[in-house]
Amino acid sequence: MTDPVVEETVKGHKRLERNITLLAIGTFVTVAIGGLVQITPLFYLENTIEEVEGVRPYSPLEQAGRDIYIREGCYVCHSQMVRPFRDEVERYGPYSLAAESMYDHPFQWGSKRTGPDLARVGGRYSDEWHVQHLEDPQSVVPESVMPQYGFLKETELDIGDPAATLTALRRVGVPYSDEDIEKAEADMLAQANPELDPGDLAERYPKTQIRDFDGNPAKLTEMDALIAYLQMLGTLVDFESAAPYEELAEEKGR
Ligand code: HEC
Repeated sequence: MTDPVVEETVKGHKRLERNITLLAIGTFVTVAIGGLVQITPLFYLENTIEEVEGVRPYSPLEQAGRDIYIREGCYVCHSQMVRPFRDEVERYGPYSLAAESMYDHPFQWGSKRTGPDLARVGGRYSDEWHVQHLEDPQSVVPESVMPQYGFLKETELDIGDPAATLTALRRVGVPYSDEDIEKAEADMLAQANPELDPGDLAERYPKTQIRDFDGNPAKLTEMDALIAYLQMLGTLVDFESAAPYEELAEEKGR
């Protein structure tokens, strides 16, 4: 160690390391700088989630279905996040984007998969398939360990106060308009009953599916709400044109 600069540095470091107060102050300053670099930008960003076209808040009926999904503990066996790995993408479809769960309170990502991921299950099966599968999963997949949920078809949906639900969600940042809140109850009833006038439901909630979901148009059941929710999962974003996927598509030469 003949280089005088190196020698000076080593000496300085020795002083720092042997003086506990100096070392504590030095550590504090270093950590503080690192912390500020990470935290400060967050105060100037409105949102850390990249917005993606097509993502919208849930319609009142989908939201009610989501509440049943949570009540019944479907999340105990099903995740709702396709991870960005090749095997996942090949099995389930395009990997999930943060924006797709930006209106979820609480989110349903999950890590337990007794059954398959459901983030992209919308449109994969018919309503009739879902009804039969929920009533008796083993009649569709004999080795299934999924419980039977036939009672959902018999239980009338307790619509409660959908306007209050939407108002609560708006307080935590879901952008429901005054009109959405005003029409919440009518929207909920109209989505599952094609005989009612849906008004501008489909304009306010693009890609809403309006039909009787459980095969019994006479009754609005919990099954209607749950299937309305399942059938919209993963259907909002057009993955051919969504920004994060453009590169992926190019790579694949599509
Ligand atoms: C005890 C674990 C368990 C629970 C709880 C559970 N499931 Fe399942 N689910 C499974 C298993 C295992 C499969 C795969 C076999 C099958 O299709 O039945 C499955 C399959 C599914 C499928 C088909 C997915 C696909 O891509 O083929 C759907 C839809 C589904 N479940 C919805 C639900 C809903 C909705 C609930 C709550 C009402 C629920 N599950 C509760 C275990 C469960």
